[in-house]
Formats: sequence, C-alpha cells, structure tokens
Amino acid sequence: MLKKSWLILLLGIIFISWNAYAQHDNLHRRSSVYEAPKDPLVIQKLDKWQDLKFGMIIHWGVYAVPGMIESWALCSEDWINRDSTITYNDFKKWYWGLADEFNPVNFDPDQWADAADAAGMKYLVFTTKHHDGFNMFDTQQTDYKITAGPFKNHPKSNVAKYVFEAFRKKDFMIGAYFSKPDWHSQYYWWSKYATADRNNNYDIRKNPWRWNKYKEFTYSQIGELMHDYGDIDILWLDGGWVRPLETVNEEVLSWGARIPEWSQDIDMPKIAKMAREAQPGILMVDRTVHGPYENYQTPEQSVPAEQLDVPWESCMTLGHSWGYHPRQNYKSVNKVVHTLVEVVAKGGSLLLGVGPKPDGTLPDEDVKRLKGIGDWLEVNGEAIYDTRTVNYYKENNIYFTQDKKGKTFAILLVEENMEIPNTVSWSTQQSVKGKSVRLLDGNKKLEVNKGGGEIVVTIPEKIRKEIKQKEAIVFAFENE
Ligand code: GLC
Repeated sequence: MLKKSWLILLLGIIFISWNAYAQHDNLHRRSSVYEAPKDPLVIQKLDKWQDLKFGMIIHWGVYAVPGMIESWALCSEDWINRDSTITYNDFKKWYWGLADEFNPVNFDPDQWADAADAAGMKYLVFTTKHHDGFNMFDTQQTDYKITAGPFKNHPKSNVAKYVFEAFRKKDFMIGAYFSKPDWHSQYYWWSKYATADRNNNYDIRKNPWRWNKYKEFTYSQIGELMHDYGDIDILWLDGGWVRPLETVNEEVLSWGARIPEWSQDIDMPKIAKMAREAQPGILMVDRTVHGPYENYQTPEQSVPAEQLDVPWESCMTLGHSWGYHPRQNYKSVNKVVHTLVEVVAKGGSLLLGVGPKPDGTLPDEDVKRLKGIGDWLEVNGEAIYDTRTVNYYKENNIYFTQDKKGKTFAILLVEENMEIPNTVSWSTQQSVKGKSVRLLDGNKKLEVNKGGGEIVVTIPEKIRKEIKQKEAIVFAFENE
C-alpha cells in the first residue's frame, strides 16, 4: 500500500517536472527563432527595408590584392585551401604585408553606386572590417587600416565614408558589415598561442582582462562607425561564432567548427544601446544569434525551401567568391533574376555580392551583368518592389507576389534559350478577375480563358516577339 502511493507520488513529480520542462523548452524554442522588434523606429525601418528587396553587398579589403578568398586563408582550419609550399607562419606574414601593397588609386565609389543603381538595387552593405581585421575606415583603435598604408594621402582614403556617401546620394539604405571576430587583434588572436581555428585563441576564463580589452576595442570601433559616418540603417554583424556560449545551438554546431568551452560574449546589449542612441531605429543584424539583435535573418548562398514568416535576406555572390577574383565564375543574369523572383515570392530580399578590384574599380563583367538584371527590373519591377507575399505563391515555374493595394503578379520564369510559350496557365487557386491580364513587358492586355479549374493566358505571336526581357515575364491582375 505504502509502496503504491510512493510510486504514484513519484510518477506525479516526474509528470509535473516533465511538463514544466517541455513548456520551458517550447518558450525557449519560440523566442530563439525570431524576436520581433518592439522599438517603433526599428519596426518602421524594418518595414521600409522589406520594400526594397534587392541590395548589394561589397567585400573589399586586402584580399583583393591577390584576388583570393576573403580573410579565411589566415585561419588554420583544414577545409581551407592554402599554398602548401609556404608554411602557415610565412603565409600569415605575407598576408599581413598585403596592407603595404593595397593602393586602390582608381577608387571610385560613384562607379559602384551607378552600377548598383543600374541593377535596380536599393540598399548597400559594405565590409568596413572583415575577419582579417583590416579596416576600410579610419579607425583610431589600430593602425591596421586603409588610411595608414600607401593610400593614406588619397582624398578618399577613408573608404567606408565615401562608399556610404556615394550610395546615399542614390537614396540607398546604408549597411555597415562588421566582423565580430578580428584575427589581427592581440586581444582576439594573442600571439602567445597558436591560431588553430576561427575562435579567439586563449581561455577567456583565465584571461578576463584580455577579453575585456577586446570588448572595449569592438565597442569603440562600432562606436566610430555609428558616430562619424553619417546615417547608417543596418549594422550587419558577421562571424556568428562570436556569441554568448548559451546561444550556441544546433545551427552553430552544424558549421563543424570547434566550440570553445568559454563564452565569446562581446556584450551585444551594450553595443545595440549605443548604436541605437547614435542611429535611432538602426536594424541590428547579429547574424545567426537569434534574439533581440537579429532584426532579420540571413541565410547564406541559399534560398529557404519555403516562405519564412520572419523578415529575411539571402546573401549570395554574383560570381563564386565574395571578394574580387581574377577568374570569377559568374552567375547568369537569367539565374540572378530567377533567384530574385523566388526570394521575393518567399518573403525575403536578395543581397547580391560583388568584389571590386585592387585598383578600386568594379570589374566590367560585374557592371555588365548588373545592368542586365536592372533591365529586367526596369520593366518588371512592379512585381518585385514594395510587394508582400501571397499564400499560394508558387505553381510549377510561376511565382506569385502581390502589391500593397492587392494587385497580384504571376511571374513566369523562362529558362535560358527557351522560347516564350504561346499560352501560360495556372490553377484557379490564384484566381483572375475579369477576362484579361496585363503583360508588364510592353504593357499589353492579354486575353484570359477560364475553365476546368485553370486560368489560361494567351500571348499572340506578335506580342511574344516584342517581349524585351526574356528572363521572366510578368502578368498583373486582380483576384476574383
Ligand atoms: C560567409 C563567409 C564570410 C562572408 C560572409 C558574407 O560567412 O565566411 O567570409 O563575409 O559569408 O555573407
């Protein structure tokens, strides 16, 4: 008898604690995915940003000189390809030495802004500092910067300042990319120890002074960017492994990098408070650290399988690498347009990456391709900018979007070297009011037939021949 009641009691305790645990876990999971901002100015800016859809991310630093991978070769992780005829230590010396060669005498941020504008882009993210720690702005915290090398006497040597100015003139929203890790800083990679991987290379628990110095250094650098470089809309923080230990999740583990036992916490609440005092409403993009400082999410080199119901942006390269590469393997205009359409129909924005040359100009091939994308947007931008998602957003190779007044767009992706078909059809799950739709290219009214649960649009041959932008064609209509 006694035994039985003990058992019941025990089971009861297990049940209650399991329940409490499950609820806690639930709450935890929900808030760890996305935390909507509460500050009205942030909400407003986020909403504005979500209308833009298409931006440019520029990776530019000393790695442009040899045209190699940005920063990463400095890091001794075994996925990184490095010239095996040179020792790691010699390689590092050589890499640090690139700062003395980087002299982009033809630096012309207006050329970059013109190219982005011609592409139909609306916002910018520029690398003020990548993981290698080389500063593309005139920081007072270190001499490892563009304003201390051979470029120092150039009138635009404070590169980030002039890049921001050039894009601001074109009404772009301005984003500062900033790497939380800094492999040049003695407070991050202390030369007392080897630099085995991307993480800081000393035990923070045993060297709290050093890590505090790193926090101060980071805070001061971001402070400079927030106070001395005009209006900034986005603080895009890369290097997601620099984060409080308790925020390490499955996603972080999946990167396959070593997770140190200590916390690389740089005090984001303090940084965000300062940033928002200096730049009211600024969007904080503490990449992959889901929570209050990740105002939008940033899948990389990929598009989510389905729509996401949180604000997001895919960052993706126009070529194969983020920075300049002399033999860049480019994506076609067709491919980029298709990606942009897919991203927008799924509720995101596309941040397309380019890398200027060591002389300071954008490669001609980039400029040409960007113009090709812009030509498509010039005709079809109505279906992209200022739109929001629809629930039924995809059918075969057709994506659907909607503007804020409720006008719906059907965007047919046309593969390279394919003819535009004489009829295009989709199911009545995306209904059409009336007997016609409007083809954006050439602003033509096209007849619609309905029947058998299908909408069938006919494109007469004459009109087909007149279509200029063949990457994707757009039909506008109202729902029934
Ligand atoms: C990846 C790369 C990094 C690059 C970033 C841009 O994290 O490792 O070098 O700056 O993507 O999104």
